[in-house]
Amino acid sequence: MASAASNLRAAADASSKGNGNARFNGEALSWDSRPFVHEASQAAATAIFKRLETLPDSDQPKQVLEIGCGTGILSFHIASHAERVVAVDAAEGMITVLKQKLQKPGAPRNILPVAVLLEDPEDGALPPAHDDEPEGQRQKFDLITSHLVLHHIPDLRAVLKTMLGCLTTGGRVMLTDFEDFGPEAKRFHPTAKMAGVERHGIDAREMAEMMRGVGFAGVDVRAAWTMSKRVERYEGEFGDGGSAEAGMGEVMDFPFVLCYGERRTSK
Ligand SMILES: C[S@@+](CC[C@H](N)C(=O)[O-])C[C@H]1O[C@@H](n2cnc3c(N)ncnc32)[C@H](O)[C@@H]1O
Repeated sequence: MASAASNLRAAADASSKGNGNARFNGEALSWDSRPFVHEASQAAATAIFKRLETLPDSDQPKQVLEIGCGTGILSFHIASHAERVVAVDAAEGMITVLKQKLQKPGAPRNILPVAVLLEDPEDGALPPAHDDEPEGQRQKFDLITSHLVLHHIPDLRAVLKTMLGCLTTGGRVMLTDFEDFGPEAKRFHPTAKMAGVERHGIDAREMAEMMRGVGFAGVDVRAAWTMSKRVERYEGEFGDGGSAEAGMGEVMDFPFVLCYGERRTSK
């Protein structure tokens, strides 16, 4: 019988051929071994919870959508604050790892993993709004999160429109990513991991303008925390694998933004 690890590897290999998301399928099996991704998701959860604390009880989110959940690290944090988290990722390898994690004792029971490149709020891969109409309108959400994803999205305006279409009236987005604070922001990724990087972080002013243009209200995009990351001292220092070995690189601080917006109307 095939082992769980070989099944995961097969799923990662198969899906990397299918959806053009080779980098994240390839990295799925080792994703959780990187301390940085845990620290970054913990910091994102803290920033999101701090923002949620400013809302009245009646506005606390019950139904949450995480877009680009990876192996579900942030979803696990959010799950204890929600009725259900629908966790979607375009890379099937990431979703396969998340499904394995959800089988483990003590894992949250209210995370629904979905493998989909989400570009349409009415995508049939999302759960139906009503159980008795499985082919009907798709579920709408009180809160959408997305962490370290926006810098990979080719068309930010399009994904913001999709997000708006996935929200209930009164629903909110709280999106987190590193900030484009200038040319040095490029150093966030090692040279070997530039595939799929569409921009070197989020420009807070441009993002706020774009969110308003798409139709979000109450927009507020600002730096919420800073994180240290080991980066290359010169291009290619970390080699083809993109990982720092002992004595390599230097530590640099990166500001992270929280992009907040609300859907106020049903149109
Ligand atoms: C850098 S990873 C971050 C994963 C996770 N949020 C974390 O911080 O550990 C970016 C993820 O976004 C996913 N992604 C990018 N665009 C997406 C979309 N439109 N729909 C679903 N997933 C998407 C990729 O497949 C990838 O797994």
